[in-house]
Amino acid sequence: MAEKVVEVDPAVLAGLDNYKNLPAVQQPNWPDQQALEAVHRELSILPPLVFAGEVDILRSRLAQAASGKAFLLQGGDCAETFADATADRIRNRVKTILQMALVLTYGASMPIIKMGRMAGQFAKPRSSDNETREGVTLPAYRGDIINGYDFTEESRIADPKRILQAYHTSASTLNLIRAFTQGGFADLRSVHEWNKGFADNPANKRYTELASEIDRAIAFMSACGADFEQLRTTEFYTSHEGLLFDYERPMTRIDSRTGTPYITSGHFIWIGERTRQLDHAHVDYLSRVRNPIGVKLGPTTQVSDVIELIEKLDPNREPGRLTFITRMGASKIREELPKLVEAVRDSDANPLWITDPMHGNGITTKNGYKSRRFDDVMDEVRGFFEVHRAAGTFPGGIHIELTGDDVAECLGGSEHIDEASLEQRYESLCDPRLNHMQSLELAFLVAESLAKR
Ligand code: PEP
Ligand code: CO
Repeated sequence: MAEKVVEVDPAVLAGLDNYKNLPAVQQPNWPDQQALEAVHRELSILPPLVFAGEVDILRSRLAQAASGKAFLLQGGDCAETFADATADRIRNRVKTILQMALVLTYGASMPIIKMGRMAGQFAKPRSSDNETREGVTLPAYRGDIINGYDFTEESRIADPKRILQAYHTSASTLNLIRAFTQGGFADLRSVHEWNKGFADNPANKRYTELASEIDRAIAFMSACGADFEQLRTTEFYTSHEGLLFDYERPMTRIDSRTGTPYITSGHFIWIGERTRQLDHAHVDYLSRVRNPIGVKLGPTTQVSDVIELIEKLDPNREPGRLTFITRMGASKIREELPKLVEAVRDSDANPLWITDPMHGNGITTKNGYKSRRFDDVMDEVRGFFEVHRAAGTFPGGIHIELTGDDVAECLGGSEHIDEASLEQRYESLCDPRLNHMQSLELAFLVAESLAKR
């Protein structure tokens, strides 16, 4: 029997394009409109990267986290680049997330939802449209999906062919992620393997001890005759900021089962701090798709903003639909967050609250690097747990910028990365990321906080 295909309501399709009537900030100027339209056409018939059914499962997992029965771990680059989409680098990022998730699962005894800022995190909001170096002013770098990082006129021109390259790079990244997480690499019986190739350091030593404990527990359970098929594979979701309409609109497809639209470039899509204006294009667009949606909330967020965002993005109060990603800064979270979580607690909404302890803690070092202090990151995480504990709400997850590589971009951690080290091992084209060791250290801290929650 042929599968039943639901008819698409023309109003749904027209609604998707409503964003074109609204102000949209942080969009590039494409000099060649014809080339852009050709890219839209090509992209709109390429295969989806993720499927509606997977997105629905994620929504149900996030609903668990919103009610305190699971925890979301979301991590990856600030900006992915085409050059860094290599097998080694992707594997190191996946391994780091798997290791962190293991630390969290074991420490907190609850399911951890694993999610990469991966396979689509190519477009960046910028504080200024232009960049000036030594008297020369050029358009700002907006991420590999739009223009190049090299400071030349040619490289900084917005080139629509990059949108297709971002799609294909995302497809190959996701293919490798799927192979790693479904093909045996994520098997809990090989937790020691995930640590291979990483430098010796205190966090890795702690991880190795934990891995040995897990081995013993598994050996014991095996001896008792338990079936471990479930430990062989793991779910792993992708996410990125839904910033660039020229990518997200052609990647939005109508689900044949339900006739409703899904963004198929990633499972979870978030709205950034700079694009969450209630009457602007981004909030309108994301209000019309079925994916679980995140919204970043900075320190100036008012209670009324949060209530109106809920009304607009989650009018049906659907479990798992809406996630607030707070990024207040370590010095502000204890002051700014309580009023927001209390107001929502006392309403009929039940969004997921997660912490982004990175974006409110930016500094510029004396030698000119954009950095973050590891201690501030840790402190914001602690503040997040304190605020939720006091309000009686659930601290449901963590959103961080990390890499599996041995970079020096954030200051501190038990390796004591100092300003001089930034000159040796700073690779990020955008924001500074936690390196492998700092990521593991953070996971141990969060695991402790979860255990005593
Ligand atoms: C980001 O997540 O890289 C980012 C730009 O964050 P925010 O919108 O919170 O500033
Ligand atoms: Co960033």
